[in-house]
Amino acid sequence: MEKKTTTKTKKATATKSTKSTATKTAKTTKVAKAKDVEITKRILFVASEAQPFCATGGLADVCGSLPKEIRKKDPSIDIRTIIPLYSNIPNCFRKDFKFIGHIYVTLSWRKEYAGVFEYDYEGIKYYFIDNEKYFKRDGGEYGYFDDAERFAFFARSVLEILPVIDFFPDIMHVNDWQSALIPTYLKTSEWNDERYSKIKTILTIHNIIFQGRYGKQILTDVLGIDQKYDSLLDCDGDVNILKAAIMTCDKFTTVSPTYAEEIKYPEYGHGLSSIVKANEHKLTGILNGLDYDFYNPETDKVIYNNYSVADKTNRAKNKEILQKEMGLEVNPDKPIVAFVSRMSVYKGFDLIKSCIERLIEELDIQFVGVGSGEREYEDFFRYLNNKYPGKAHISLGFSLEIGKKIYSAADIYVMPSLTEPCGLSQIIASRYGVVPIVRETGGLKDTIRDFGCLGGGNGYTFTNAVVGDLEYSIRRAVEDYRDKEGWAEKVNTVMNIDFSWKNTAAKYIETYNEI
Ligand code: GLC
Repeated sequence: MEKKTTTKTKKATATKSTKSTATKTAKTTKVAKAKDVEITKRILFVASEAQPFCATGGLADVCGSLPKEIRKKDPSIDIRTIIPLYSNIPNCFRKDFKFIGHIYVTLSWRKEYAGVFEYDYEGIKYYFIDNEKYFKRDGGEYGYFDDAERFAFFARSVLEILPVIDFFPDIMHVNDWQSALIPTYLKTSEWNDERYSKIKTILTIHNIIFQGRYGKQILTDVLGIDQKYDSLLDCDGDVNILKAAIMTCDKFTTVSPTYAEEIKYPEYGHGLSSIVKANEHKLTGILNGLDYDFYNPETDKVIYNNYSVADKTNRAKNKEILQKEMGLEVNPDKPIVAFVSRMSVYKGFDLIKSCIERLIEELDIQFVGVGSGEREYEDFFRYLNNKYPGKAHISLGFSLEIGKKIYSAADIYVMPSLTEPCGLSQIIASRYGVVPIVRETGGLKDTIRDFGCLGGGNGYTFTNAVVGDLEYSIRRAVEDYRDKEGWAEKVNTVMNIDFSWKNTAAKYIETYNEI
């Protein structure tokens, strides 16, 4: 929605939502004022998605909960979040957005309108950058031919709008390539205002696969960065936004300690391992936490029936309902093996694809899942649904609602990722009582230990990304499932592990303090 006025206090309702999710409720809460607590640090958290406003994956979960947890842990940190005003942000929120003002942003030869709205939610002040040309799109948040331009615009707007929102942060905390131009712009543009030169930056890499990699022509023509910075952004002959951010930020983090190690090696660095290695003195791995309010089987309104570790009677009912809804044989003794995931080669779908038919036939399991992704896997799951009615049901198209219903009813969770920066699904699955099977990589290795480990474990793990090892792990889990008492104990163990943000928020605060 473009406003042609600079009146800062003017109220306006943001562009009407095109999608609205019944599960989302608008809850406005007052943000603690500076006068209540003495503010010791100002942080602007910049992201391309954040729950509950817009989400395509785990990034939104983390960006929606981390600032809130940091604020909870240390109320003297004034942390605010800024994201694009996508048209799919539900109207239940945007009807209460307050228009603050607008500017015109220079992006190479372009001059683009950038409006800013604010909204207080769960103790955090949110800002939304408005430009309909870039963010009013029908197909979701990303995947457009002009994504480089859209997010270059976003990064520049966030920087240039600081005087309008009257908030010059000590630290800007950016996330993934979509906001990663911020540290680079701070270092490569002329800022005739010393408040800009004081800003420090932290970059969090949620997944190094996504780098914002484009042809050389965008450097001056789209990003508006002087040719003399060519080598800063260059990576193997392309412009690489994430690479430049690793070089220009003050610190960077990734979402688990193991992944922080892995990305220093070519197998996991996706072309950036040498850059990561050269900057390792600035790198820390901090394990993500989970929003324990949003993902809580005791209170979750989306699942069929609520339950707790102490009383899982309703969990059994959920299984029965899920079996009915998915057209599976209703039978409490059949183990439901499940996934809730983007269907990508990196999530290990080749491994699943290679053994699942054999397992359905030999082990008499039920296989359910939800997600969308690469064509090859979607086609395979259509075939599987047809071949095994009553035994397999994969819903195509991502739906958090179906995902949560699956978590609240299934028995065994499969996550054989080839690479996994942190992974939240194994944590959500655990919280809802689905016993995870994971490959030992990244955050999966940092969160799940095999039941056979010295001192006990909280799932099934395997080392090598080979079909035989996944298949063996599923067979182990299904065999253990037949032992009712032993299995109930395992479910209790996985549900009792604490993956909340408590420790994580403290680690981020430590990192902010180190800067
Ligand atoms: C990305 C990663 C995932 C991580 C999430 C949140 O989606 O692929 O592993 O949990 O970001 O940091």
